[in-house]
Amino acid sequence: MSARPEASARDHAAETRAHRREYLRRAITHLKNKTSDLADAPMSNPVSVYTDPARHALERQKLFRETPLLVCLSTDLAEPGAFRLFDETGVPILVTRAKDGRVRAFLNVCRHRGAALTHEREGKANRFTCWFHGWTYSNEGKLIAAPQSKAFDGEMQGRDHLIEYPCDERHGLVFVIATPGATLDLDAHLGAFGDVLEVMDLKQCERVKAGALPVAANWKYALDTYGEGYHFATLHPQTISPNTRNDVVIYDHFDPHHRVGFAERALEAMVDTPESEWDVRSEPSGIHYLFPNTILFAGSITPGKMYLTTFRHFPGETPGETVTHKTVYAYGGVRSSEHRAEVEAAYDGVAHVVASEDYVVAAEGWRNLTLLPPDATVVYGRQEVALQNTHRAIARALGLSA
Ligand code: FES
Ligand SMILES: [Fe+2]
Repeated sequence: MSARPEASARDHAAETRAHRREYLRRAITHLKNKTSDLADAPMSNPVSVYTDPARHALERQKLFRETPLLVCLSTDLAEPGAFRLFDETGVPILVTRAKDGRVRAFLNVCRHRGAALTHEREGKANRFTCWFHGWTYSNEGKLIAAPQSKAFDGEMQGRDHLIEYPCDERHGLVFVIATPGATLDLDAHLGAFGDVLEVMDLKQCERVKAGALPVAANWKYALDTYGEGYHFATLHPQTISPNTRNDVVIYDHFDPHHRVGFAERALEAMVDTPESEWDVRSEPSGIHYLFPNTILFAGSITPGKMYLTTFRHFPGETPGETVTHKTVYAYGGVRSSEHRAEVEAAYDGVAHVVASEDYVVAAEGWRNLTLLPPDATVVYGRQEVALQNTHRAIARALGLSA
């Protein structure tokens, strides 16, 4: 699929089992000792971080124009000729896979007089013909035909290629930086988190369903709801809390990314079970946060039957507008229509909790922050360690201190 040679000989299942075993060890030790992974101290943050329009504009530039953003999984652009639009940042970017196997990204804007090259959100095409006057470009971005081209003699220089954006893929994930000419170094961006993503074996995921969820809250306020389990018992008494504790955090920092898990209640019964008797499945554990705006969550329908959900958060024009793009994938591909229905049901279940619980409180909380005096702060407890580190990483990326 990718022209780039990747380590394909790895035994992802065995590595995932090893990770799962380590997660269980840590979670069960915490349960035994009544402990949790915690930050060293609570942290306060000015409410202006969420509400200030100048801060919002800086984030839109630094984090959503100058930072690698997840477009989709590599399997969403599986075959040569596949394309999709990535316009969630407000810049209409056409992402393609050409016959050389590489992914590329272009402004979806004709070099003649600016019409769009495609109005489809995704599809298959080796070439794109502008609907205005018919200039035609290859999926490598080259102008290959222009009707009556002699009439442009001397003016075609520099117009023979679409405006290109940095685009690359790693570990089954496709990234773009929404600034032409920017340097995209995914190995540097992902650091040690790249290995965590590799073990997740995302190249075996097949997309089942996607949707968008708007929320009248700052994008970081929406994002915060994924990073702490402290709210499970109170906000999700019927949905998440029956299966998951709100007081045992398993946290790994891969600055600026992280992985955070919340101990399942089922583990309480394993506290006195010898490790040799544990049922250790090959399942990723935890919420995976990919800086700056993405959550990857792998869950299971039944033991061993996995789905992956991506939540990509994009800010609107003002600090109080966010759209979360959610996509669900079946691990190992869709095996049957029943399997597809199960994955869709898992998606619908998660989407319902997010829309009817997390994003209701997010909209209310964010609105209330706008009413507070300018020197007011919010506070993240020691158990909200993931939020602390995310806000520090964001501030650092903006050249600010937190
Ligand atoms: S604007 Fe595209 S061909 Fe004229
Ligand atoms: Fe929640």
